[in-house]
Amino acid sequence: MTYLWLKAGHIIFVIFWMAGLFMLPRYFVYHQEAEAGSNEEAKWVDRERKLLKIILLPSIIVVWVLGLALAATLNLWSAGWLHAKMLLVLILSGYHGYLGSYATKLARGERPLSGKQLRMFNEVPGILAAVIVVLVVVRPF
Ligand code: HEM
Repeated sequence: MTYLWLKAGHIIFVIFWMAGLFMLPRYFVYHQEAEAGSNEEAKWVDRERKLLKIILLPSIIVVWVLGLALAATLNLWSAGWLHAKMLLVLILSGYHGYLGSYATKLARGERPLSGKQLRMFNEVPGILAAVIVVLVVVRPF
């Protein structure tokens, strides 16, 4: 019973986290299309900060806590698929951290990446999430 509630909570917050990770680079694209110093730009800074603070930060914490609680409940520490999954989740967490630092740069008026680079960058979480789901469901090793 505990296991099923933990798993339901884990999947719900995975959905919130992934939704935020897909949305934020898209916000960056629109942000960069706004004129520097304009009102519209200030609105994007605010939206990005809220998405990071209200959706992304709580979600990553809950996903990690419930994921580790599941692994402990099922005593999966020696499972190869879990090691591979955790490595990919670490990369995904690093991607999240990079988005946070990119939002700070945008708020300072810097625009390090082009719109095209941001769109390509946006593919990263989708690819990682697909491999993570295959690892946890198919368990190839
Ligand atoms: C530190 C991070 C994470 C840890 C430690 C973790 C660990 C786990 C564990 C132990 C399970 C239970 C497996 C079972 O029922 O036998 C699970 C389920 C699941 N996880 Fe994670 N997870 C993490 C992050 C993620 C992420 C980022 C995703 C997706 C992008 C994800 C997707 C899933 C899915 C879809 C399930 C349900 C699989 C099923 O029903 O069999 N997890 N996770």
